[in-house]
Amino acid sequence: MEILQCRLGSSDRFVSAIGLGTWQFSQGHGLIGKFWPSLDNNTIREIVKAAHSGGINWFDTAEAYGRGQSEYALSQALNDLQIPHNDALIATKWWPLLRSSRSLESTIHERLQRLQGWPITLYQIHQPYSTSSIADQMTSMARLLDLGLIQQAGVSNFSASQMTAAYRALKAHGHTLSSNQVRFNLLDRRIETNGVLSAAQDLGMTIIAYSPLAQGLLTGKFHNGSTSLKGFRRFTPQFSSRGLAKTSSLIHVLDTLAAKYQVTMAEVALNWLITTPGQFVTAIAGATSQAQASQNAHAMTWKLTASDRSALDQVF
Ligand SMILES: NC(=O)c1ccc[n+]([C@@H]2O[C@H](COP(=O)([O-])OP(=O)(O)OC[C@H]3O[C@@H](n4cnc5c(N)ncnc54)[C@H](OP(=O)(O)O)[C@@H]3O)[C@@H](O)[C@H]2O)c1
Repeated sequence: MEILQCRLGSSDRFVSAIGLGTWQFSQGHGLIGKFWPSLDNNTIREIVKAAHSGGINWFDTAEAYGRGQSEYALSQALNDLQIPHNDALIATKWWPLLRSSRSLESTIHERLQRLQGWPITLYQIHQPYSTSSIADQMTSMARLLDLGLIQQAGVSNFSASQMTAAYRALKAHGHTLSSNQVRFNLLDRRIETNGVLSAAQDLGMTIIAYSPLAQGLLTGKFHNGSTSLKGFRRFTPQFSSRGLAKTSSLIHVLDTLAAKYQVTMAEVALNWLITTPGQFVTAIAGATSQAQASQNAHAMTWKLTASDRSALDQVF
């Protein structure tokens, strides 16, 4: 079975076109970690196992997800499952709020400790909010790369101009910025018009699409009433009855395509992202169960036709 792949930056490393997002592994720690219900270690292990068996070979985590709890729970699951280091990779992120670039270097050993032996293949700046300039942050990233403490550098939530500035600053140190992780899904397509998508393609960078299922909305389960909404999503406008009504025509097209390909609506929504022409978009879907992780991985095994992609474009 062929699995769709995505190049990580301009390196010769390819990753599965779908990665597993692990904000959901925060286990209730910290403020950001409370967004999702707490998952026990057994469920986390089952999710990682299902993702990996389905062909997912990379995992996105962050310092901010449960103040390192997600990094710990993820690496614990990978270790328990005896997945070798050459068969999966981890991307994590530094949290820059109220911090200078010096903290990128001073906290790296804490990140590595949390990852329990797993190397940091991709280290990302979570938000463009550091008290240091982009140039200074890239100087610190370059030092981490030179020391071999990380293998590739990326950013997240950077605008086109911030991303380009970061790219140039890192290039001046002889390194290449690999990726920008941004919100991108069938309901949030701002990066197609704000310059991020085209600048990334021009620079040879990878776009890592987060919230690819619009936090579950694009699975259709909230539109058909099969699932009631718990937790913080209840307070998000897109999940209100008005928000659901506004997106019902898109869900209808997703449903039609899901029937055509004999897959779920979640798969169609993910496949639309990873078949963006150019092979430079990868999607990190979060999961709260083994079944979701398997389904989401299956989205890498088939391809929407160009005309089905345009049916989705039209309804947008
Ligand atoms: N860089 C950033 O600033 C940033 C921001 C947000 C997220 N992220 C990353 O992106 C990852 C994914 O984004 P996200 O968690 O916001 O949203 P998402 O991947 O769009 O949605 C994930 C949620 O949708 C539901 N779901 C997933 N697969 C499903 C399926 N096949 N069928 C039915 N329901 C399904 C699950 O929630 P329920 O089961 O509870 O419905 C799951 O927790 C995160 O884990 C994190 O790694 C990064």
